[in-house]
Amino acid sequence: MKVTARKPVIAGNWKCFHTHLTAIQVVQKLSYQLDPSDYDATEVVVCPAFTALRSVQTTIESDRMHIRLGAQNVYWEPDGAFTGEISAPMLAKLNVSYVIVGHSERRQLFGETDEWVNRKAKAVLANGMIPILCCGETLEQREAGETASWVAGQIAAGWQGVDPADIARSVIAYEPIWAIGTGRNATPDDANETIGSIRAAVAEAYGEPTASAVRIQYGGSVKPGNIADLMAQPEIDGALVGGASLDPDDFSKIVRYRH
Ligand code: 13P
Repeated sequence: MKVTARKPVIAGNWKCFHTHLTAIQVVQKLSYQLDPSDYDATEVVVCPAFTALRSVQTTIESDRMHIRLGAQNVYWEPDGAFTGEISAPMLAKLNVSYVIVGHSERRQLFGETDEWVNRKAKAVLANGMIPILCCGETLEQREAGETASWVAGQIAAGWQGVDPADIARSVIAYEPIWAIGTGRNATPDDANETIGSIRAAVAEAYGEPTASAVRIQYGGSVKPGNIADLMAQPEIDGALVGGASLDPDDFSKIVRYRH
């Protein structure tokens, strides 16, 4: 049994899946399969597409569920002529608690830079929500032995100018790009080692109390069959789950990995 004061957070990133109608069904089924002890042990988050946020919010609130709402992206300006963008105050009004920033798909497919990620993280914090700051290396970087320095650089850039107290209440998601959607997860030892290196870099930059408070998730092909071994690692404080979070049976098994 590992001993840590950090409450794990297991979040489902639904990516560009589920309409608002199927999203309601998924969150209802998920909630039926969880009990109060699950929420005591773990923070449970679902991150639907923007179009499903309002429906999932009202489902969660009307049934008094303990599932937290997350968003997958945000724009940093509070409002203005920015066609197609969604701002942090808009998300906060929907009682969104967590916002994923800097997911590798956004960096690779939509050209997000470290500077944008930094602005987004600051906007999320300024509006009382918690950023899930993503980092992760490519296979080439891993094979070249650059993993620790690369992810430390992404984290330093993402948190530039952010108050250590805000970092302490935030979440980092370590998601090796080669493990996302491939069925090939990092071994628990490898994930633990990289996450330990991220925590050491946070300690060096912002101090030990910040490093021991910040929660660092693993993401990349997390499934019901591998979650328990990942969670047994001392540095791993939860998971950011893609494909396996779309199905409430699989996702509830992941959340209930202790059982
Ligand atoms: P998969 O769990 O589908 O590999 O996705 C991981 C991910 O990108 C979560 O943000």
